[in-house]
Amino acid sequence: MKELITKKAIEERTSELAEQINRDFADKKDVLVLCALKGAVMFFADLVRQLNFDMELDFCAPQSYGDGTISSGKVDMKLAPFTTIKGRDILLVEDIVDTGISLEFCKKYLVDSGAKSVKVAALLDKPTRRRVAVFADYVGFSIEDKFVIGFGLDKMQKFRNLNGIFVVE
Ligand code: IMP
Ligand code: MG
Repeated sequence: MKELITKKAIEERTSELAEQINRDFADKKDVLVLCALKGAVMFFADLVRQLNFDMELDFCAPQSYGDGTISSGKVDMKLAPFTTIKGRDILLVEDIVDTGISLEFCKKYLVDSGAKSVKVAALLDKPTRRRVAVFADYVGFSIEDKFVIGFGLDKMQKFRNLNGIFVVE
């Protein structure tokens, strides 16, 4: 296991993203900031504490099937947000955009539920792995095609608690 991104680098980058998001959302009211469980939990908690516009927090759990290191391409909303989506400006907070299948599913889910707008913040992006053309509006780090764990990201549900991003060797 090799450290790829330190907790300090994540902290610094999260602050930069927060500044950018604060500027872009400054005039919005009653924004719904949505954490995509489980992977985004650490990034979400750090990010929202640096956001300063009018917001509500909520959670959802999109699940892409396949418990190894390869996603099956099938996604399901295992836990829907508790709050109304209709008419809301949404900031969806994701752990990583890999093939993009999960993000495409989530965006469609939110748009179909009547969201007024959907922006996405993702801690990590693996652009070379993309199979569908989706992107995050705010990206922490663009990384190579390597399977990573820590800071919310798992391998078979373990290692989410690691305080940094590590490459599995
Ligand atoms: P997708 O392939 O873009 O649909 O990614 C779906 C989900 O797979 C992400 O939200 C993560 O939970 C998981 N995932 C993708 N790449 C990695 C990785 O390198 N480490 C841990 N989880 C990953
Ligand atoms: Mg996962």
